[in-house]
Amino acid sequence: MPRSHPYFTVRDEFCMETRACPCGIIIFGASGDLTERKLIPALFHLQQRGLIPEQFFVMGCGRTPLSDEEFRLKVRDIVSKSADPANIERFVASCYYTSGNYDSLELYESLTLNLGELNKTYSTGENYIFYFATPPTVYTNIIRHLSLSKLITKDERQDKWRRVVVEKPFGRDLDSARILNDELHKSLTEKQLYRIDHYLGKDTVQNILIFRFANSIFEPIWNRHYIDNVQITVAETIGVGHRAGYYEKAGLLRDMFQNHMLQMLSLVSMEAPISFDANHVRDEKVKLLRSVRPFPEKNLSDWIVRGQYEQGSINGESVKAYQEEDNVDPRSSIETFVAAKIMIDSWRWHGVPFYLRSGKRLPMRMSEIAITFKKIPYSIFKPISSNEFSNNVLILTVQPEEGVSLTIQAKRPGPKLCMSSLTMNFMYQDVFGTEPPEAYERILLDSMLGDQTLFIREDDMDISWSLITPVLRQWESDSNNASLHFYKAGTWGPDASDALLNRDGKYWRNIEE
Ligand code: BG6
Repeated sequence: MPRSHPYFTVRDEFCMETRACPCGIIIFGASGDLTERKLIPALFHLQQRGLIPEQFFVMGCGRTPLSDEEFRLKVRDIVSKSADPANIERFVASCYYTSGNYDSLELYESLTLNLGELNKTYSTGENYIFYFATPPTVYTNIIRHLSLSKLITKDERQDKWRRVVVEKPFGRDLDSARILNDELHKSLTEKQLYRIDHYLGKDTVQNILIFRFANSIFEPIWNRHYIDNVQITVAETIGVGHRAGYYEKAGLLRDMFQNHMLQMLSLVSMEAPISFDANHVRDEKVKLLRSVRPFPEKNLSDWIVRGQYEQGSINGESVKAYQEEDNVDPRSSIETFVAAKIMIDSWRWHGVPFYLRSGKRLPMRMSEIAITFKKIPYSIFKPISSNEFSNNVLILTVQPEEGVSLTIQAKRPGPKLCMSSLTMNFMYQDVFGTEPPEAYERILLDSMLGDQTLFIREDDMDISWSLITPVLRQWESDSNNASLHFYKAGTWGPDASDALLNRDGKYWRNIEE
């Protein structure tokens, strides 16, 4: 039955939702922040939506000594905050815990015993997902021990699988990412390895592909003949918070660009894959990233700009400078903002600039992709010239007000020839009456289903690090930090970010309008 809405009629024509098969998930880093904020709530919601079978268990694993009961108390506490806390007990009862040091054999011996028992209780067919929610420094240790204890083997039979899900950061530059890949590949095949970029789990990011490849009207205009420029913005109001230990070694280019920003860029600009099969989609993403023009060695600042926030105010509240945050070096040169101009050397995109920016302590939380079309070639509405018409702009809002909007020119009612820009707006919340699910739900479900479409393949990881590693090297060698621009917290970044576009006669889209 079509559902009606003032502007849209929604028909549930196709819905492919597959239930996971029996399995157990073993979470390393189970007493950590990610497990609490994302993993447990996501698994619980999947179970509530009937997407996880009865034959399923969660095994928490961590250095903090906890009994099963103590772990369950924590889990109960986390899931009780859920919007719909029914059926908590079934989920809580399926949670277990094994503690130990990641480099001690005893941990893996206990784990082998415990998993053996749980496999009998839950009939999981010895299908296990090992989820690494630990700092990356211990990945190698864990994988070696899992392999030594035969919990992981490359020699998989079809009916019994072992998978490993790893969180970012995956390395800190090209060399370290390659070393980590080699280490993991000693014990795992690429098919068993699930590298996460949680942006790919967002419904609105997946909608880029549906929007482009499930409609026929956009493809003919999705190219250099019609598109003037593309802007991808991921703005956050939060600062570094309690993550200075990680952030001081990472910085925004590693934290957001190497992964989320380049992933969105590839989805918005890649060619149509021959099918929605994991490797076909990933082949196209990789092909696109290969056609991104490398940043030049000379005049790098004409292409990419880095900034760091100073004191300022956000939503009327004054906030500290980055250098004053807890555990941050008071002379830190770590970037909290990056804006870049990217050119794609292909027939489709030659000459179209892609401007990407992301930053912390910006005026609002907002992620969007704005596609600005070229102006009309000629105006028949004299004396209005073609330059006076606004460009059509298509906006894919990734968050927080997920939706799609298109700005067009329209005649104002009345006897005179009056025109104005108007925006057609579709918002998920209005139309579907629900907000998109949390990205981790999709990612966890796909890892249980063995669907790698939304995970980063080795060559994708490699090419994205190859693009940004030379920039990192140049910035590191900039001993007097001439390339670091400061911006007041609560503004849209340093002036140098505007200059990047102004040189091309363009402007960042004013998101606050
Ligand atoms: C993470 C980064 O990958 O993404 C964080 O490490 C950032 O620094 C976060 O805050 C943003 O994710 P989201 O889903 O809140 O946009």
